Amino acid sequence: MPLNEPAASPAARMMQKVDCPLRWYTPESWAKMQLLDPCALLNDHAHLEKKAASNALSLVAHWPSDRHLGGVAPEGWVHGLTTIANDETEHLRLVLRLLDKRGGSLSKGHSNPYAADLRALVRAGQGKLETADRLMVSALIELRSCERFACLAAELESSAGADPELLRLYKGLWAAEHGHFHAFLELALELPGADRAEQDARWAWMLGQEAQIISKQNFYIGMHAGVKN
Ligand SMILES: [Fe+2]
Ligand SMILES: [Fe+2]
Repeated sequence: MPLNEPAASPAARMMQKVDCPLRWYTPESWAKMQLLDPCALLNDHAHLEKKAASNALSLVAHWPSDRHLGGVAPEGWVHGLTTIANDETEHLRLVLRLLDKRGGSLSKGHSNPYAADLRALVRAGQGKLETADRLMVSALIELRSCERFACLAAELESSAGADPELLRLYKGLWAAEHGHFHAFLELALELPGADRAEQDARWAWMLGQEAQIISKQNFYIGMHAGVKN
């Protein structure tokens, strides 16, 4: 069961156009607050794109050992993950270009409590189960990011002092991150040697966990931040 229903907002309508199994939907007030400080948001976003690229690369040679595979990667594995890493690097370049244009610069440190909470769900050290969880956590982060881009794009479209450059960025990334969500989820659900029914049940559980985690985040300027009370 969803923790909340998608509001009849422009962002929710955008998400309804695509497959979106999220169980908690971001309230409209979230994007309004985030857009009060576009440079801080772009800085957080740049770090997330950098981490997304590293995450995809770290999975490239991390397929589970399976006797049927004989040491060879599952079909689509290396190509799919390197394509994602390449996309994320391109996103990072785009975001940094906008940040620079607006007088900002990349900060040295960055933390993402939402991603850290999700990573705590991974069954570390359990081989195939760990890989499946890492792929599912990656899929969740992509899907939530996609929803957040929809929120930001909808807010920019409805505000009088619209920022066409940011609007273009968020609309473009919305589609890209949804594609990445699908790619990660497909790799997770079709992991060689894994039981499909168990994988489906794990994914359903992960969706519930993600809803709890995102809805409890504190407010700050950032893509995966909570809502300001
Ligand atoms: Fe990205
Ligand atoms: Fe992505």
